[in-house]
Amino acid sequence: MTDFTLARPDDWHLHLRDGAAMADVVGHTAEVFGRAIIMPNLQPPIVRTADALAYRKRILRALPRGTSFEPLMTLYLTDDTSVEEVRMAHQSGVVRAVKLYPAGATTNSDSGVTDFGRVEAVLALMAELALPLLVHAEVTDPDVDIFDREAVFIERILAPLVEAHPQLKVILEHATTAEAIAFVEGAREGVAATITPHHLLMNRNAIFTGGVRPHHYCLPVLKSERHRCELVRAATSGNRRYFLGTDSAPHEKETKEGSCGCAGIFSAHAAVALYAEVFETAGALDKLEAFASFFGADFYGLPRNKERILLRREPWEVPASYAFGSGSLVPLRAEEMVAWRVLARPSHHKSTTRPNTP
Ligand code: DOR
Ligand code: ZN
Repeated sequence: MTDFTLARPDDWHLHLRDGAAMADVVGHTAEVFGRAIIMPNLQPPIVRTADALAYRKRILRALPRGTSFEPLMTLYLTDDTSVEEVRMAHQSGVVRAVKLYPAGATTNSDSGVTDFGRVEAVLALMAELALPLLVHAEVTDPDVDIFDREAVFIERILAPLVEAHPQLKVILEHATTAEAIAFVEGAREGVAATITPHHLLMNRNAIFTGGVRPHHYCLPVLKSERHRCELVRAATSGNRRYFLGTDSAPHEKETKEGSCGCAGIFSAHAAVALYAEVFETAGALDKLEAFASFFGADFYGLPRNKERILLRREPWEVPASYAFGSGSLVPLRAEEMVAWRVLARPSHHKSTTRPNTP
C-alpha cells in the first residue's frame, strides 16, 4: 500500500515573482498547497501595505480557474520602515509577516537592513502585534566564508536580537546548518525554522557533480553532508519548531546559466513529493503531515487546513523545463525521477489511510 493522505499543506516560504512569470508558476503551488507566505523581494520590493495588497490581487487574478489558494503577504523590512507602516500592514489582515534581508545577502536584497539599530522600534511593535519576523540568516561580510555565513549571523545578530525582543516571533528561514538547528532547539518559545526540500535532499557536492551545476546554486548555499543529516533529523523529529518552507525561487534558465548565475532553486512543481522522499528515506513518513500541514499554521496562529490531498508512490519524470514568462525555467530534478506524486487534489474527503511503508 503506497497511498498516503495528509491535510492540505502550506508553503511558509515561497517566491512567486510578478507579471507573466508569476502567472506561469503560481499554479504549481496553488494546485497542492492551501496557503503560502509570499516573499516580498520583487524589484522594487514590497515595502508598503498598499504594495502588498496590490500584489496579492495580482496573484489571485493569476490563479488557474477553480483553485482555492490564499497568498499570505509579507513586507520587506528596510532601514526606513516606519512603525505606522507596520501597524497598517497588520491591520490590513493580509500581511502576515515581515521579512528581514541583510542588505546584499541574496537576490533583490539591496534595499535590506544595513543597520539593525534602526529597526528596533519596528521589532518592538511586531512583538506587540505577534507579527512574525522572517529572517534570511546570513552575514554579508565578504571576509566570512560563504559556508559559515549562517552560523556567524546567528551568533552576531540573531541570538542577541531574539533575546532583546523576548516576545517577538522569529522564523529562521531556510535553515541549512547544524548550528541553525542547535540554535532553534535551544531558543526560547516563539522561535522556529523553515527547511527547504533542496537542503534536505542535497549536499554541496550537488553543485559540482561532473561540472558546475548552476541549477543547484541557491542561498544559503548547500552545505556538507553533516549539516544535511542534521536538517533531516530536525525536520523528521516531530518537533513543532520546524515546518515546511520550499524557498522555491524561479529564475529564467539563461539568468542561471550565465557567467554570473542567479541564486535560487525552483521546486514548486514537486515540493510535497520531494519532502515525502526525505521523510520516507528517514523512516518517518508518519511525521510528514505535521511538518507540512500543522506546525506552520500553529506557529502563525492560523487554522489548519481542512481539505486533504492524496500522495501515491508512483515515480514520474520531471520535465526538462517549464514555461516562465518570456522564457523557461529548469526545475529541480529536471529529466530525473521523483518517487511520489500528488494524485488527488484538495478535497474534503476524509480518509483513514495511513502509510504502511516504509
Ligand atoms: O536562492 C535564493 N533565491 N535564496 C534567496 O534567499 C532568494 C531567492 C530568490 O529570490 O531567488
Ligand atoms: Zn527565499
